[in-house]
Amino acid sequence: MKASSLAAMLGPLNQVAMGEKKADLVLKNCRLVNVYSREIIPHTHVAIFRDRIAYVGRDASHTVGQKTAVIDLEEKFVTPGFADPHIHMDQFVMPSELARHALLCGTTSLFSDPIDIVSVCGYRGFREFARLTEALPLRVFHMVPGGLPVDRKFSHARTMSRAEQRNALKMDGVLGMGEVFSWTKVTGRDAETMGNLRQVLEAGGIINGHTAGAGDRKLNAYIASGIFSCHEPIDYDQLIERVRLGMWVMMREGSIRRDLERMVPSILSHKPYLDRLMFCTDGVTPKDLLEFGLIDHCIRKSVSLGMELIDAITIASRNCFQYYGMGDDLGGIAPGKLADILVFDDLAKARPDKVFVGGRLVVAHGSPVFSGPRPALPGWVTNTVRVGRRLAPGDFVVRGKGEAANATVIRMDTEIITRRDSEQLRVVDGNVIASRDKDVWKVAAIDRTYGSGKRCVGFLKNLGADIGAFASTQSFHENDLIVIGSDEREMALVANELLRTRGGMAASRGGKILARVAMPFAGLASRDSAEDVASGIREFDDRIVEAGCRFGQPHLIPLFLPFLALPEVRILYSGIVDVKNRKYLDVIT
Ligand SMILES: [Fe+2]
Repeated sequence: MKASSLAAMLGPLNQVAMGEKKADLVLKNCRLVNVYSREIIPHTHVAIFRDRIAYVGRDASHTVGQKTAVIDLEEKFVTPGFADPHIHMDQFVMPSELARHALLCGTTSLFSDPIDIVSVCGYRGFREFARLTEALPLRVFHMVPGGLPVDRKFSHARTMSRAEQRNALKMDGVLGMGEVFSWTKVTGRDAETMGNLRQVLEAGGIINGHTAGAGDRKLNAYIASGIFSCHEPIDYDQLIERVRLGMWVMMREGSIRRDLERMVPSILSHKPYLDRLMFCTDGVTPKDLLEFGLIDHCIRKSVSLGMELIDAITIASRNCFQYYGMGDDLGGIAPGKLADILVFDDLAKARPDKVFVGGRLVVAHGSPVFSGPRPALPGWVTNTVRVGRRLAPGDFVVRGKGEAANATVIRMDTEIITRRDSEQLRVVDGNVIASRDKDVWKVAAIDRTYGSGKRCVGFLKNLGADIGAFASTQSFHENDLIVIGSDEREMALVANELLRTRGGMAASRGGKILARVAMPFAGLASRDSAEDVASGIREFDDRIVEAGCRFGQPHLIPLFLPFLALPEVRILYSGIVDVKNRKYLDVIT
């Protein structure tokens, strides 16, 4: 959503406040949650002209003219809109669908780090994603992804060049750089990384951080490189170490991690200033979006852990905009601010009854009152799953000699964490095969970004699921088509199904597709509703769990198998990678 500039509006706002010009909208009898004075003030009137607030006080009758809409809120609680300062929203569902749910949850501003669409489509993907969010009835700001490539030696994700980053920083609503998660590139002063950081700082941008595991001199070096926030602290010691060094901390509560349970009680017992703290989700699955919500959940959770409601609301609104240098425009209900306002029947539930963004009513009685056409997408963004041909069972053969072969296997400890292991496997007709007895299955990574058809086929242990096969095009952040299975024919079946649907997830057994979620938007997101995508992923997971999978969320397995930032062994189409020793491993040893 486009915003007016305060400079262009100061004359009319001043006149409305003085009663010399009439407001467009007056909200009467608000119980105002004031995030500047830490008070809840009854009998408050708010007058709005165009998209900004002109007057807040005891009586706005002098701003009411014949055309002014007046809503009597009958002493309902009124707060500023909530903000998520770090969210990956370029996955699972389209931005319009996320926006619908975000607004129902009272989150009126999203600060997006579109690392996934950039890793598939490069700068063109960044611009397209920004375009898709322009007309949405909430505020979406973007950060140039700062985490690509994850590891230059192995990564084949698309990235943005220095010149493309420079051009992106000039775009409306682009604020700086998203999480710089390879912090060793900063402490090691990697020339490419330092050049990118310098460019953002010279453009006046903000750089988001990711300092998991960094402390003392490394943390100092990282912060001294212009990175002033972090969403990785998982306990109070890490949080306060960063706050003492001038950092802002985003407390994460989303699908990747949930940290509030551990952090909030210790924050309350230590009583630090709260004005450097924010809540962020770091991205949510459709299931979690529907079950928990977004920043509203962070408020409820923090309050259930003992935080004062007004503090939680301040953290969820004002603090975020102050971090981003937007505190004059957003984050509170005061003269001059953009009119992003939530109205609550029951503040403790933190689910608004009414939502205004820029003075425009977008949610009423807890339901959306906006609609937009289904966004038109360019062909290139829905045609990213390219292998060049249909896949055949022979594409999943691992060549071996004799009757048995010693194979490197990726042993799974969780859906996400893997270890290096090895197994003796049978060779049948020159093909090293999976072993139900040993719980060893085949796993393939196939290039789907560049259309080369290049692939690596290896082995995965400890899955437990005697399923035919399952596959996904969602993978952090290399985007290979990942296929896991017990049988080469089934593997070809699910892989071809994803070529047909142009991405997503599919599972098969007995030669039949049992579950599928089509994700044609860059192979990352569906065009369906969050409800349909959540039930599709649940169906996908359930079928694999029913087949014996020892992990509850099998869709996470292909998502993380190529993720080079985690230990210990990863698979890319270019080979099996030993992450710690930074070398490729032979599949057959
Ligand atoms: Fe993140």
